[in-house]
Amino acid sequence: MNQEWFIRPYQSDDRDAVFRIAGDTAFFGSPIEAYMEDRRLFLDAYYGYYTDYAPEHAWVAVANGHVIGFLVGSIDPKKYRKTMVFRIIPTIIKRLGQGEYRIGPKARRYLHEIALAFVRREIPEADESVYPSHLHVNVDAHWRGCGIGKGLLMTYLDHLRRLGVPGVHLQTTNLNRVACYLYERLGFSLLGARKTRMWQWILKEEVENRCYGLQL
Ligand SMILES: CC(C)(COP(=O)(O)OP(=O)(O)OC[C@H]1O[C@@H](n2cnc3c(N)ncnc32)[C@H](O)[C@@H]1OP(=O)(O)O)[C@@H](O)C(=O)NCCC(=O)NCCS
Repeated sequence: MNQEWFIRPYQSDDRDAVFRIAGDTAFFGSPIEAYMEDRRLFLDAYYGYYTDYAPEHAWVAVANGHVIGFLVGSIDPKKYRKTMVFRIIPTIIKRLGQGEYRIGPKARRYLHEIALAFVRREIPEADESVYPSHLHVNVDAHWRGCGIGKGLLMTYLDHLRRLGVPGVHLQTTNLNRVACYLYERLGFSLLGARKTRMWQWILKEEVENRCYGLQL
């Protein structure tokens, strides 16, 4: 395999590749099909905003002409929330109504568990006045450990500094071990950590939801 790779700004043609990697890494670095039969529901809900409404804050890593990793982000929490409420969620509800997503027993259980996790307040949050930006970063399994995740994060942090954004946060879990190591290595602080029961139906290990933040 040619080990040469580089990072460039996201282009609309990268959308399918970004969605593929997002789906292939959504279960603690493994494919989402562990907890959802039809990945399109997850991808539309979690990633549609970044590719379709904030593409100027997205970056991809490329090797041999293929996207092998990405970082997507938001710098404006109000725009993010407004777009989720008035664009993304209504589109998903419409598609659900039209039977476009296959909702099997795994997806039903996941949606039930995530709703309970919210009710039980198992998801730590950041103060958005201090850390208005957030991000998601994922690298194709074949390309991990080559410096790509670090390169994507450093590119995004430079981008935020140029824009004068005061801080950035992200959500992860203790099981995303390399990710936690990398965030701490880049100076992020743990803002909150809460044990969650939401994965008990599928994982033996105890999971802790974590929120990391960095002031720029
Ligand atoms: C987390 C992730 C984005 C990191 O990207 P990456 O390209 O694999 O990481 P890098 O090669 O840039 O390495 C970053 C640091 O982690 C270390 N590292 C990488 N892989 C490692 C491993 N398997 N074990 C221990 N350390 C590791 C590197 O040595 C480097 O540390 P250094 O700067 O001290 O040398 C990537 O591994 C990934 O997509 N993982 C699965 C999905 C995920 O967890 N995403 C984040 C969700 S919040």
